[in-house]
Amino acid sequence: MFDYKNIYAQDPEVLAVIKKEMKRQSEEMELIASENYASKAVLEAMGTVLTNKYSEGYPAHRYYGGNQVIDEVETIAIERAKKLFKAQHVNVQPLSGSPANAAVYFAFIKPGDKVLGLKLDHGGHLSHGHPINFSGLLYNFTQYEVDLATGRIDMAKVREIALREKPKMIVAGYSAYSREIEWQKFKEIADEVGAFSFADIAHTAGLIAAGEMANPVPFFDVVTTTTHKTLRGPRGAIIMCQEKFSKLVDRAVFPGLQGGPHDHITAAKAVAFGEALRPEFKQYAKQVMANAKTMAEEFIKLGYRIISDGTDNHLMVVDMTAKGLSGKEAENILDRCGISVSRSTIPNDPNPPMNPSGVRFGTPAITTRGLKQEEIKRIVAWINAGIEHRDEPEMLEKIKDQVREMCLSFPIPSI
Ligand SMILES: Cc1ncc(COP(=O)(O)O)c(C=O)c1O
Repeated sequence: MFDYKNIYAQDPEVLAVIKKEMKRQSEEMELIASENYASKAVLEAMGTVLTNKYSEGYPAHRYYGGNQVIDEVETIAIERAKKLFKAQHVNVQPLSGSPANAAVYFAFIKPGDKVLGLKLDHGGHLSHGHPINFSGLLYNFTQYEVDLATGRIDMAKVREIALREKPKMIVAGYSAYSREIEWQKFKEIADEVGAFSFADIAHTAGLIAAGEMANPVPFFDVVTTTTHKTLRGPRGAIIMCQEKFSKLVDRAVFPGLQGGPHDHITAAKAVAFGEALRPEFKQYAKQVMANAKTMAEEFIKLGYRIISDGTDNHLMVVDMTAKGLSGKEAENILDRCGISVSRSTIPNDPNPPMNPSGVRFGTPAITTRGLKQEEIKRIVAWINAGIEHRDEPEMLEKIKDQVREMCLSFPIPSI
């Protein structure tokens, strides 16, 4: 990997913090569902001279000279993404997930138009219509929810809301929902009310690409995904759509919303798509899901309440109130054990998003490290011990030592 000798000579201050973060990642357990470890090849692609180039426009239609090579890079990324997701058209330029979603709204609807999206505390993302986000401020969102008894999206309810509201667009997708989405039903409802169908598969894209979860790309009007979660690429996003919407989408990304694409990131996306097309990636996705299943089962055995009582994907939201603490308190305790998690709202959370009732756990990163079900059982036991013995600093320290030992015996592939 990189030897860092230039940054060492020129800027030891910045190198010191980079090294500190490398050590933290090496020694700590990453259970944040949206994080992963990009491969050495992906990291190398990001660190190339492609960052020096300006290339506003699209392959063969650029506003700057000297883009013959960049055209090749972008075309490789597009073709690989098309193959991976069975997409008719792909735009690989979005800088990240929220900008990709902004581009989709910008392309398909007008400010003030009606849209349906999953509510934040029921598992949706800020950019699916939350009132403090640009999406909720600019567009007229109605938020659907999960059924409180089952923790699952009730499609009959979604249809009822869609028939009543007659939205221009229906958003399906999530940040903290652990069940398979009924894409076909969403599409049928959108067709019935004459709405555009938009899927945000940011969280599950890697599992979908591997064929382990259902793929909405072939039949939805438009689909976005980040490239850095289960897909294990660089930070960034792509938009996929039916060919008939290709001009709308491309114009919304550039010149509508963004300037020059980040070509070094485009190269890294291409590398990540290449990795995801390999058979090993299917094995990885299977293991991510098997690990998540075991994790959910272990939590349930220990008396924790999981929203929807389990998981079909890589994540789960655990209600911490039964254990007498909030999600933020649990996050802080687990930090002291060397385990990183993210606090999460639970459906109809009585507490505010900064101090919600739940914690979201995910298995993409630890699976990249090579951890399997046997290790997952030990990790859940440590989490439970940390929570039960939260007032005993020596106990938390002891767990941290065990976590470090396990982490060091499963090194991160890129470090
Ligand atoms: C479903 C979903 N969409 C969009 C995003 C936003 O992605 P980014 O953080 O890259 O803007 C996220 C991020 O967590 C997400 O979970």
